[in-house]
Amino acid sequence: MSKAGNNAMDDAARQRIVEELCSARPKLHGVDDAMPSGLGLRNDVLRHLGGSLRTGMRTLETGCGYSTVLFAAAGCRHTAISPSPEEHARIARFCADQGISVAHVAFVAASSLDVLPTMKRDPLDVVLIDGLHAFPAPFIDWYYTAERIVTCGLLVVDDTNIRTGRILRDFLVQEKGRWALRAEMKRTSFFEKLVPRVIDGIDWPMQPYCATKIASPTRRLRRWIRRKVTKHASRAASR
Ligand SMILES: C[S@@+](CC[C@H](N)C(=O)[O-])C[C@H]1O[C@@H](n2cnc3c(N)ncnc32)[C@H](O)[C@@H]1O
Repeated sequence: MSKAGNNAMDDAARQRIVEELCSARPKLHGVDDAMPSGLGLRNDVLRHLGGSLRTGMRTLETGCGYSTVLFAAAGCRHTAISPSPEEHARIARFCADQGISVAHVAFVAASSLDVLPTMKRDPLDVVLIDGLHAFPAPFIDWYYTAERIVTCGLLVVDDTNIRTGRILRDFLVQEKGRWALRAEMKRTSFFEKLVPRVIDGIDWPMQPYCATKIASPTRRLRRWIRRKVTKHASRAASR
């Protein structure tokens, strides 16, 4: 981890910020200043993420909002990527009102799909994937950040209730030895990275999620018929 920043808040002040976000749920999201919304992480996730951050961590998120406030309050050297400068301005205003410095936050006003492939591959301690959820965005976000996460670093996947997030979560759960599921809330999963290389040189047969046979509808039907026949036969035999 890099050297500690010098403008982090103390633990009590950070705790206060987390609780302020949980109770106020400020409207920081959206491009329309006349109709901002509050699409931030759920309160249990905010509390868990808040407790996982340390001053000086190198962090990156796709999307921005309450999470950005947490990274800033913890004194992380943070990058927040979202295509909406309006959101960045609202977050900066909210932080100023709460006495949180954004001196170590780089707001990148672009789509993560465009910007991540061009970024320097500096190491990261924590990555939050919570930007565009349409296919294939979360996978691209993961592809361009996974190798950058240090061993023992944290990957947070939000919105696993959406199919893209769910596939990424299910894939990572099966990547035992490379990733470990450390915490799970309703629709958010926290993974620890266990080894330096998680993509390069790993072909699909080495990935349990890909190597598992897809059950064809015919095979599923055959299995169902076999179960029914067995059940019927054992009932008949016991009569
Ligand atoms: C659900 S919100 C993020 C919530 C945030 N983590 C929080 O705690 O408040 C989704 C975010 O994704 C951003 N977004 C939309 N399209 C994007 C893209 N192509 N690349 C990166 N971010 C994107 C939106 O602007 C919005 O900030």
